Amino acid sequence: MTIDKLDTGVPHPARRYNYWLGGKDNFAADRESGDLLAKSYPAARIAARANRAFLGRAVGFLAGEAGIRQFLDVGTGLPTADNTHEVAQRVAPDSRIVYVDNDPMVMAHARALLTSTPEGQTRYLEEDLREPEQILAALDILDLSKPVALILVAVAHFLPDHPRSVEIVRMLLDALPSGSYLMMSMATTDFLTPELKANWDKALRSGRSDVYPRARAEFDEFFAGLELIEPGVVAVSEWRPDPSAEEHPTSVEASLFGAVARKP
Ligand SMILES: C[S@@+](CC[C@H](N)C(=O)[O-])C[C@H]1O[C@@H](n2cnc3c(N)ncnc32)[C@H](O)[C@@H]1O
Repeated sequence: MTIDKLDTGVPHPARRYNYWLGGKDNFAADRESGDLLAKSYPAARIAARANRAFLGRAVGFLAGEAGIRQFLDVGTGLPTADNTHEVAQRVAPDSRIVYVDNDPMVMAHARALLTSTPEGQTRYLEEDLREPEQILAALDILDLSKPVALILVAVAHFLPDHPRSVEIVRMLLDALPSGSYLMMSMATTDFLTPELKANWDKALRSGRSDVYPRARAEFDEFFAGLELIEPGVVAVSEWRPDPSAEEHPTSVEASLFGAVARKP
């Protein structure tokens, strides 16, 4: 990583999300942006936690019930508790995980992401979701003749161009064999009251937000031709909720769609 790429004066999604999750890897600009967005959407912190909990439950499903051993996690985020490789390797120690993020700060923490069981493997790539060919060219530890879970959790909503985002996901999935999975979450204003929705739209128009929410019909487009796993497309907090969890956010609080689907 080149340290001069790390502009701490500009808010970045990874650090803002880390702030919402209660982490320490963030700067004043990230906290300011996080507080501003939380004014438009007061449940932002609960939504961040609900999303992270979905990541854990869905990776647990993929490594367990679905028997997946290879994971491509794009939009990794800063390491926190229960990163993808930790959840997957707890279930299946031979799991291989490739992490991809475009924030140099995530790269600075890559060592924490690169711990692995002796049987498994982890890699970290500093690449951009907008350049899927570059990602596909660098997947050296994954065997693309065997199923892979493509994980796009709380990342594709940073791409403003919806048709292009669907195309990018399609390109990545096209490179994966039958039996692979798509696991995705994405911000939506569908569950919100008209007042909260108007706040969010205002934040987006004024340039204070870089999150581009999708309507249900748009989210569904990512899953065309795939077999949705029960319970289908729901708020992340409603995807196989853990009854023993401390928090049970409502769909309005979570305000992200989540789904897991199998490539036939
Ligand atoms: C909200 S965090 C989500 C982290 C993790 N997936 C989770 O759900 O806990 C979004 C992550 O996506 C990364 N990101 C945003 N745009 C990206 C892009 N175009 N390519 C790769 N990563 C991106 C950010 O740097 C950040 O780490």
